[in-house]
Amino acid sequence: MTKPKILVARAVFPETLALLSEHFEVESNQDDVLWSKAELARRLADKHGAFTTGSERIDAELLAACPQLKICANMAVGYNNFDVDAMTARGVLATNAPDVLTETTADFGFALLMATARRVTESEHYLRRGEWTKWRYDLFAGTEVHGATLGIIGMGRIGQGVARRGALGFGMKVIYHNRSRLSPELEAQCQAQYVGKEELLRTADHVVLVVPYSAASHHTIGAAELALMKPSATLINIARGGIVDDAALAQALREGRIAAAGLDVFEGEPSVHPDLLTVPNVVLTPHIASATMTTRRAMAQLAADNLIGFLTQGRPVTPLNPS
Ligand code: DGY
Repeated sequence: MTKPKILVARAVFPETLALLSEHFEVESNQDDVLWSKAELARRLADKHGAFTTGSERIDAELLAACPQLKICANMAVGYNNFDVDAMTARGVLATNAPDVLTETTADFGFALLMATARRVTESEHYLRRGEWTKWRYDLFAGTEVHGATLGIIGMGRIGQGVARRGALGFGMKVIYHNRSRLSPELEAQCQAQYVGKEELLRTADHVVLVVPYSAASHHTIGAAELALMKPSATLINIARGGIVDDAALAQALREGRIAAAGLDVFEGEPSVHPDLLTVPNVVLTPHIASATMTTRRAMAQLAADNLIGFLTQGRPVTPLNPS
């Protein structure tokens, strides 16, 4: 029996490739070349499935060139690289990788919050430059984390994980804003109180963004929102680039209108707005919130399970649309 053909669009764990090769005829990109859209379409033209990361844009134009394609399995919980409506119209199943990265990503949200509030990278760079000559009462004095007010925008699974860490681990007062309010049970578990976005921005000491990217969430934080925040506040983005207006943020940081920011995601990444690279009070990391080997393995396994489940038995694990 001939095996379905799939494309693994980026480098993955060798064991993931080995598993996929048991079920499929696999073309893979183990050299991790960043293919153009035309190149991706050319390679997908005869494939039944695609193993994608959040970097490959799957839209109507690409789908029109890939008549055999039945499924794209994202090794990411976010799927703003998919035009799900166009995929549904073409009968292409979209799947993502939820749950397996929730706690790891929430851990990183806290790592970034701590590093930002306590000026960890800024002070390390100072030390490495050989500028540390004496102890001083206000040397890299940062912002309190324990007992502070944590404002979370986007209260899905990862947002709830951040809330639990803040409330239970650091005794923080947790407020959140979300499209819909959590059930009273979930609010009690997270010890989180629902507030309007404006109130959250005005009162939080640390604002953490965990909202999925869409046209509606584009520039959730721009100049007007930054102007509402306390001058002592920090802003943490572990969601997606485009949720924050990076140019407006760089200006607010430079002018000291907020104290600091921690960013794991950027508009137009892997490019980073040049002004963010020159302001000292920002911690920058290259989209690694889910990056532990254990979690990345689990994400790869789930994407593989979706391809295998769907293409061999018609049963995907985490579908996003009707197939
Ligand atoms: C996700 O899973 O969406 C993370 O951002 C990794 O891409």
